[in-house]
Amino acid sequence: MNRKLRNSKLRFWLGAGLAGCALLVGSVLGGLWEVRTAEASAISGMGTLTGMVDAPKPFQAAQVYATHVEKDVVYMVYTAGGRYRAVNLFPGNYEVTVQKKGFEADVKKVTVKAGQEARVNFSLSEADADAVRKNEYAGSRTIRGDVALVPYDELYPPGPGRATAEKTCIYCHGVNFLPGNPRNEAGWNQALDYMMNRNEAFGATQGASMIPPESLQPGEREALVAYLVKHFGPGTPRRALRVDVEMPLDEEALSKAMYVEYRLANTDGMPRRRAQEPTFDHDGNVWFTERGTPSAISRLDPRTGTITDFMNPDPKGSPHGLLVDQDGFVWWAGRDVHLGRLHPESGEMVQYPVIEKGWHGHTPVLDSKQNIWFTMLPGNRIGKWDRATDKIALYEIPSQRGRPYGIVIDKDDKVWFAEFHGCQITRFDPVTEKFTEYPALTQPCLIRRLGLDSKGIVWYGVFSGGKLGRLDPSTGKIVEYDLPMPFSQPYDTWPDAEDNIWITDGGQGGALIRFNPRTEKFTYYPSPQRTDMPKVSITRDGAIWYNPRSSDRAAVGVLYPDVSKMQTLAAYF
Ligand code: HEC
Repeated sequence: MNRKLRNSKLRFWLGAGLAGCALLVGSVLGGLWEVRTAEASAISGMGTLTGMVDAPKPFQAAQVYATHVEKDVVYMVYTAGGRYRAVNLFPGNYEVTVQKKGFEADVKKVTVKAGQEARVNFSLSEADADAVRKNEYAGSRTIRGDVALVPYDELYPPGPGRATAEKTCIYCHGVNFLPGNPRNEAGWNQALDYMMNRNEAFGATQGASMIPPESLQPGEREALVAYLVKHFGPGTPRRALRVDVEMPLDEEALSKAMYVEYRLANTDGMPRRRAQEPTFDHDGNVWFTERGTPSAISRLDPRTGTITDFMNPDPKGSPHGLLVDQDGFVWWAGRDVHLGRLHPESGEMVQYPVIEKGWHGHTPVLDSKQNIWFTMLPGNRIGKWDRATDKIALYEIPSQRGRPYGIVIDKDDKVWFAEFHGCQITRFDPVTEKFTEYPALTQPCLIRRLGLDSKGIVWYGVFSGGKLGRLDPSTGKIVEYDLPMPFSQPYDTWPDAEDNIWITDGGQGGALIRFNPRTEKFTYYPSPQRTDMPKVSITRDGAIWYNPRSSDRAAVGVLYPDVSKMQTLAAYF
């Protein structure tokens, strides 16, 4: 029997036969396990960590965290049948622990050596299953401080006005905004005026109103304000949503997976790091924007964990999207910077003159001629930097409430973008300069990003409605799939080489989700930290790079869905 076959057989046992019976598995599979661990690390100079986790009652897919103490790199794998295995670890000193809701584990120290396998076993004890972990997450942002987490019907008691709040406010603001911002009647009326654009202070740069006046029937506004005052009036205790549904866990799939997070140290110079938008250069490095203050364009070499920051000329510049062109120049779009360019060798940074302050750049992408197209969210425009002329042209989009967000270029150099508030996908033809609009099935809604698979199918997430959308440009037909978890907020939707769609979820804030369009199955990969992940980039080997944004610790992260396919730590498109 060859090794590959034996391994797949073992996986079958772990996944199908004994999953969830951690106590049993230890003794039954003790012998077989040796077969699998005899496998060497794929990458030379790296080490392996394995072990057994048992507990007084059954559990599935506990998360094992191994932190390289000196490098501050965190590896996370899942138990399958009570066993875990992390491969291709940097040699060094580690602290290892296990997290599983309803259980507690010690932190243990171990040294991992190159080419060797270290072992650490754990015995979990039972803990309060209802205990809310610090930094527990529900809704689109991390809830900090003293907040009671309650089910939806307690947060939003049924009654007149609730449906209006859902379709007029909550779809945009998420579930935790209204309860977190109590006001009196005058305050809520002021907020409505502000949102309906009756407020002068809501300047022209913000585009059209947040609430189209026609969306409120006569009497609806009064009922809404009464509802808001009753439940979110002055002095209301701080509450936020509690999602009691557990993520679906597929131990068989998870047993192959490993996350790695390269954490970013907060320093005196960069006290509050906030990384975003990973992308790859031609040398296997991962670039990202550093949106904290001072801001930077930053590079991680995943082979060493070395991070290099190129400080932004404007410390508050808040760069957003990022790309690397064919010559290795790094381009970004950001606040008050429609476009900037970094030469990674000299460190020279050039910013293109701002055409209109407040329009901001959002996400840049390359077409086949290495021109750069970018979205401008408040500017309600898309832009093009022309490589031949070195000039920028802007195109106002037809939808007044649109707010262009994610953007992709298809094989014919047509420009596709998602309208955040416009709740539609729009195609721009650079030759005819015509826009074609494809409204989402769920209305109204927010859409952040979109992806394009190898067959030209457009995928998008209905951020406000927990759905994955599929648009076939050849027919214009749209299908929307419900994500399995309630209150999901699909953020990015990007295909891998096999056209599986990888979804980041701002709502649950704790997973990368794979959607297989052929089986229409969603597989959840709970992430090391609870956080949203605004964007992913996927390597040619199928590794998914992301930045945890609202997490406790800023980092550059990667999920290897199948560690047996790992050839290198470097990242290439
Ligand atoms: C289309 C999306 C959208 C909808 C719908 C919407 N809002 Fe807003 N709201 C925003 C945005 C974006 C901002 C921030 C605008 C700014 O100040 O630049 C905001 C700001 C606010 C603020 C001010 C926040 C602060 O910190 O001062 C309040 C209050 C508010 N909204 C309440 C509401 C209420 C109540 C509703 C429903 C009646 C609502 N919004 C509907 C997008 C929306």
